[in-house]
Amino acid sequence: MGPKNAERSGGGFARAADYRQEYAKSLRDPNSYWATRANELVTWYRKWDSVLCGDFLSDSISWFSGALLNASYNCLDRHIEKGDGEKTALIWQGEDESDTKIFTYRSLHKEVCRFANLLKKRGVGQGDCVTVYLPMIPEMVISVLACARIGAVHCVVFSGFSATSLAKRIVDCNAHLLITADAAFRAGRVIPMKANADEAFDEAPSLNACIVVRRTGKEVSMKPGRDFFWHEEISADDITDYCSPAKMQADTPLYVLYTSGATGDPKGVVHRTGGYLLYAMHSCQWVFDLKKNDIFWCTADCGWITGHTYMIYGPLGLGGTVLMYEGIPLYPGPGRFWEIVEKYKVSIFYTAPAVIRALMRYGPEPISQHDISSLRLLGSVGEPINPDVWRWYHKYVGSGSLPIVDTWWQTEAGGVMIAPLPSMYLEKPGSAAQPLPGIDAAILDWHGQEAPADESGQLVIRHPWPGMLKNLFGKADSVRKEYCSRFPGVFNTGDRARRDADGDFWIVGRTDDAVNVCGNRLDTVEIESALLRHPAVLEAAVVGMPHPDKGEVVYAYVTIREGCSKSSQLLEDLRRHVRGEVGPVASPHVIQYAAALPKTRSGKIIRRILRQIASDDLGDFGDLTTLADPSVIPDLIEGKRVEVE
Ligand code: WTA
Repeated sequence: MGPKNAERSGGGFARAADYRQEYAKSLRDPNSYWATRANELVTWYRKWDSVLCGDFLSDSISWFSGALLNASYNCLDRHIEKGDGEKTALIWQGEDESDTKIFTYRSLHKEVCRFANLLKKRGVGQGDCVTVYLPMIPEMVISVLACARIGAVHCVVFSGFSATSLAKRIVDCNAHLLITADAAFRAGRVIPMKANADEAFDEAPSLNACIVVRRTGKEVSMKPGRDFFWHEEISADDITDYCSPAKMQADTPLYVLYTSGATGDPKGVVHRTGGYLLYAMHSCQWVFDLKKNDIFWCTADCGWITGHTYMIYGPLGLGGTVLMYEGIPLYPGPGRFWEIVEKYKVSIFYTAPAVIRALMRYGPEPISQHDISSLRLLGSVGEPINPDVWRWYHKYVGSGSLPIVDTWWQTEAGGVMIAPLPSMYLEKPGSAAQPLPGIDAAILDWHGQEAPADESGQLVIRHPWPGMLKNLFGKADSVRKEYCSRFPGVFNTGDRARRDADGDFWIVGRTDDAVNVCGNRLDTVEIESALLRHPAVLEAAVVGMPHPDKGEVVYAYVTIREGCSKSSQLLEDLRRHVRGEVGPVASPHVIQYAAALPKTRSGKIIRRILRQIASDDLGDFGDLTTLADPSVIPDLIEGKRVEVE
């Protein structure tokens, strides 16, 4: 245990014994545990009739049904009412050094209220979906909280997604209004966004209005009666500074966020207002021990769940101060992040292993040129952190003494589920350690029995938790069907993990059809579908391949149509095609031409084999009895060898 850590106890930083006691209590009587936490953390207009209804065998599960609250009120108004109106809520740093904005709770409240009034003026009502397609600018936070204020359901789409991916997500959730920007600044370049939005409009008939933030000044086309500039609309005379928060049922949706799954359809994870907000705050308090004077910087983009929970709802719900940065870690130089830490005296820094690996390449010098002594806690999320990367992060960013919370969770979870709470953190680089209070995590073997220590198996959660997804958009019984069918009665996370003899968890990685590029979970089926839309492609299968910097990269096997030639031009074409259809993040790192793919007799592609070949894991291909033609395997191995050489 490090010296800084030993000094801390209480608050979120429980000592090991406190943690164990709290954990045991939370599992013994979950309903009264969550009722207590709900009373401590959230301000309710009306309390619940029941804490939890249903279990993983039921078609639906509800949390805090009958209760009324507003998430934006909890993140803003109540802090002002308590006298914290002048406290800084949001520090925004633009990519350009001189471009900054600071919002107090009072000023953020005003912006949120004005924009909420504008949404209403544009016809957005309770339960309507609003798609938010923005770069990392304050309007992102304002849009999200304004939707929450009027009970509209926000759906943020990562700004790196293409027009087609954006349109698919708009269509799936039937959004009425789209919020975007003219363009985004990225590493000194201007990346168009409104142009993508225009394309999406053509494919998404539910949309009837678009609000455009002028961020870069780039010329954009504006359709009269449909497209409106944010800055013009927000200053209209009829837009007032206050909008009363809607009293929302706790179990109604707060937002939808699309993530990857195994089906190829967009998978809209729906989070509920009460349970999610409570869990965001609960986990933020336990894992980060957010204090009054902390400056909390979560480097994730708000297009992913981490940005939702740890840049918006968790820290603002607790009345903290968050930092938001528009740019990327290496621009204009590898010291950019440390410059920002020094400038704003950041105390909690939460990032992804992919970011640390990118920074490691430049060595410790860019760090040593800055005073980063304000830091007191480091975090990691998105993929397993390799022990070498952990040690580097600890030594150079954490000056050899700061705790690192390696936080395991997923979009469906709403907030961190397993993390080394600081009293237990130092000993095990690479272990996510212990579940948070209220989280009944276990490892099961394929028969559904609890796996013995040190044996890996499926990571499952045995009891509902308030931050869990309500359902997948439009599919009421999807939790039971999609997550609880493999082991009836428990929630299958889709990750493999093991537990050591001390009971600490070590995450191995996903077992479903997802690939994790730089901590961004992508759906392999979505990339496959994009490849299949290319006229030269007959069949495609996409898997993840381990990569030293990116965690995993996209590895695509394609068979091409007769008459098409296997040229390097075609490979470039296919890459460009995927970038256009899904987004740059999904661009295949390797494309291997395959004569045939391994299939079952019924024609289903066996991706397990392809994943092994891409990973050079050639020892044991397991049970091949279902494979229609085993001779494809040596050809694929040979093809991989040629490809990678
Ligand atoms: C992986 C991101 C190991 C895991 C919050 C999970 C991790 C998927 C960790 C979810 C971690 C996330 N250690 N693996 N600390 N954090 N993962 O939905 O495979 O984008 O299932 O949520 O990322 O990705 P998602």
